[in-house]
Amino acid sequence: MMLEAIQWRERKLRILDQLLLPLNKEYIDVTCVNEGWKVINKMQVRGAPAIAIVGCLSLAAELSKGTYTSGPEVAGVVAEKLRHLVTARPTAVNMETARKELTAFTQSLEREGKGAEEIVEAVIGWCEDLLEEDVRTNRKIGSLGSAAVLSRLSGGAKARVLTHCNTGSLATAGYGTALGVVRALQEAGRLERVYCTETRPYNQGARLTAYELVCEGLPGTLICDSAAAALMREKGVDAVLVGADRVAANWDTANKIGTYQLAVVAKHHGVPFFVCAPTTSIDKTLGGGADIPIEERPERELTDVAGTRVAAVGIACWNPAFDITPAELITGGVITEAQVVVPASAKA
Ligand code: MRU
Repeated sequence: MMLEAIQWRERKLRILDQLLLPLNKEYIDVTCVNEGWKVINKMQVRGAPAIAIVGCLSLAAELSKGTYTSGPEVAGVVAEKLRHLVTARPTAVNMETARKELTAFTQSLEREGKGAEEIVEAVIGWCEDLLEEDVRTNRKIGSLGSAAVLSRLSGGAKARVLTHCNTGSLATAGYGTALGVVRALQEAGRLERVYCTETRPYNQGARLTAYELVCEGLPGTLICDSAAAALMREKGVDAVLVGADRVAANWDTANKIGTYQLAVVAKHHGVPFFVCAPTTSIDKTLGGGADIPIEERPERELTDVAGTRVAAVGIACWNPAFDITPAELITGGVITEAQVVVPASAKA
């Protein structure tokens, strides 16, 4: 049973409210761009590919019930709404990539003299394709990634892997990126165990990845974030597999806070470190990680657990949602749907 985080049926969008998981499984309606912006900003849906898909489908839902009189009017609305959606969360680049591509597509239709209805239909189709294409992309990442992990094992050994945050069906249209590689290893009968970090402060690992693993009967073990080094030394790990919110031109990668320290620890223990992401997560306009904007989240996401304050009142907080892993630590490589690239700086 594959979890469905995003439902698009008869031009109506519903998302699984990830703030309620794993205890409650409730879908909420998203009928327009403003609602799309809110569910992304509040992290009721999260994960770089899912953010872009929900953003675009919220636009498709809004367009499908609107009345427009001219092509230029539709093109103007699409460009403005997409610009707004990009502001919901700044680090993941996928929504910005979708904005650029969909804006250019809409403007080309406008230049061809297409009418309002024709452009609305084409934009909705474009957004629907994004949803379908994502699963195909993830399966390719899974296939290339599992081969890359297995190529480092001797004989028919099974892989012990460590993953961080949530990169699975809940973060994408389905199957997942880093968790897609884990699924592909399982399908090949070559997964011994996947360790998932709890991923404080928002617990995407404990709440979401652990939920996916349990739902699908994958052999999973939850560890606290600070157990990663001990895990590598005591139990042994064959690969670290993480996702990405944005990969710069030099392969420096922004991903969930804590990714960088996992890469440092992996390097110390000689464990290959892989970043698994669609090419839509690569931002060639940025030279390196220092240029990637890092979102800082509200203090209460750090001080409170499930609505209960656990931190001393009065303490100052710093709560970046992401960190940058330098390319030189991505020793296994960046796995996209097209290829596995080991950054030159990681080979040195
Ligand atoms: O803050 P989140 O939960 O949106 O962060 C998610 C991650 O960092 C994921 O690793 C990344 O978006 C890739 S999801 C396929």
